[in-house]
Amino acid sequence: MITLTVVSLLLSALSFILPAAAEPCIAMDASFNLLVFGVGGKDFNAGTQDSWTGSSATDITASGRPPFDGSNTTCYLAQFFNAIYVLNADSSDSTSVYIYNPTGKSWSKQPVTTPSGSPSFDPTDFKAILDHDTNVFYALSKGELFFLDMGALTAANSTALTWTDVGAPVAWGDLSTYQPVMALAQNHIHFIGVQGLTAGECDIFVIHFSFFQPAAQSYSSNFPESHGQAVSFFQKSDVQQEFAYIPDDGSATYVINVESNTTQTLAGPSVKDSSAQYFAGITSLVQLSSANSALSFLAYTEGSDNSAAAWTKITAVTLSTSSSNTSSTSVLGSGSSGTKTGSSPSATASTSDAGRTVMNTFGLVAGTMTLATFMI
Ligand SMILES: *[C@@H]1O[C@H](CO)[C@@H](O)[C@H](O)[C@H]1NC(C)=O
Ligand SMILES: *[C@@H]1O[C@H](CO)[C@@H](O)[C@H](O)[C@H]1NC(C)=O
Ligand SMILES: *[C@@H]1O[C@H](CO)[C@@H](O)[C@H](O)[C@H]1NC(C)=O
Ligand SMILES: *[C@@H]1O[C@H](CO)[C@@H](O)[C@H](O)[C@H]1NC(C)=O
Repeated sequence: MITLTVVSLLLSALSFILPAAAEPCIAMDASFNLLVFGVGGKDFNAGTQDSWTGSSATDITASGRPPFDGSNTTCYLAQFFNAIYVLNADSSDSTSVYIYNPTGKSWSKQPVTTPSGSPSFDPTDFKAILDHDTNVFYALSKGELFFLDMGALTAANSTALTWTDVGAPVAWGDLSTYQPVMALAQNHIHFIGVQGLTAGECDIFVIHFSFFQPAAQSYSSNFPESHGQAVSFFQKSDVQQEFAYIPDDGSATYVINVESNTTQTLAGPSVKDSSAQYFAGITSLVQLSSANSALSFLAYTEGSDNSAAAWTKITAVTLSTSSSNTSSTSVLGSGSSGTKTGSSPSATASTSDAGRTVMNTFGLVAGTMTLATFMI
């Protein structure tokens, strides 16, 4: 019995670590609790902003969750319905949308089809926003825009949904190599870094008219037209009016207001990571850097002077003690969890790929023997 337990523990740990890199994901529920998914095989609720710098989080790991072993995993809040939609969190299934229902703490998997033919949606190469009012995803994939209507889903429906072609913004030039930087505000999707834009401009897709605006809009700023990450701030209710843009070099955080057509230039994140994920609530912008095992936030007040806003480390959920900066570092369990199975080794990653494989295998065995080191 004991031998069996150790072996199955080892096997489950192996299956957790070896197939693919863990890729955590962040989102907030409709009460703006910070949810951190895919941390050492677990998911956590870090509570509202006032508790992020504390030392505890609630383990919300539940059955039916995706393995969070995909690439480019992204999470979205459907604010009207209090549902979280998760894309690309399962390396064995890149098309389905996993739905987390924060109220029932339950998961389900929505089947989604991607029709073949041309142009077709490439589920491994796209950037998407979830439209606040219509609950429809819009994704730019290889220069072509597609939509996926999520209806009012807070749990999966057995009828498959389908990515549908919208078209391509011909007036914006050839976008076949454009790596999208896009965010939603006032039912308009804003695109940064499209060829031909000058600093401080966005190209715009008007959702309600399914219209690619031919002329760019200026936001009285000089934010760079380069690659980066963009994410919309929520309002208590109603559509977003502002979004944050962080260029890949992390040199600044730009907050663009599409009502006043102005931009605030705020501090760049302390952790510079061009692969970092961002999620904005009403009063915060959260950064998740898997590569640096860092979770931090910028407190932000819409309509106020935020020039002194500073980035603060989130301590309620700890990603890893590893010093490796590579994305294939396995990410550790954390928060207030006490379960010991399925944990991953700590502080074993080295800087080279070959070294990491060896070290992880070693750490796995060591971690299994000692039932792993847990961080609180
Ligand atoms: C992740 O996204 C990038 C940029 O869209 C893409 O080039 C890459 O193929 C994606 N990786 C996977 C494994 O889907
Ligand atoms: C499930 O999908 C079918 C077909 O689109 C639709 O008629 C039905 O209303 C959906 N159910 C829910 C609960 O959304
Ligand atoms: C912002 O720009 C839009 C489009 O050019 C314009 O309709 C709107 O009046 C501008 N807003 C302000 C406050 O200038
Ligand atoms: C990651 O580590 C490697 C090797 O130490 C280093 O060359 C690289 O610059 C680091 N990358 C980042 C983003 O810190």
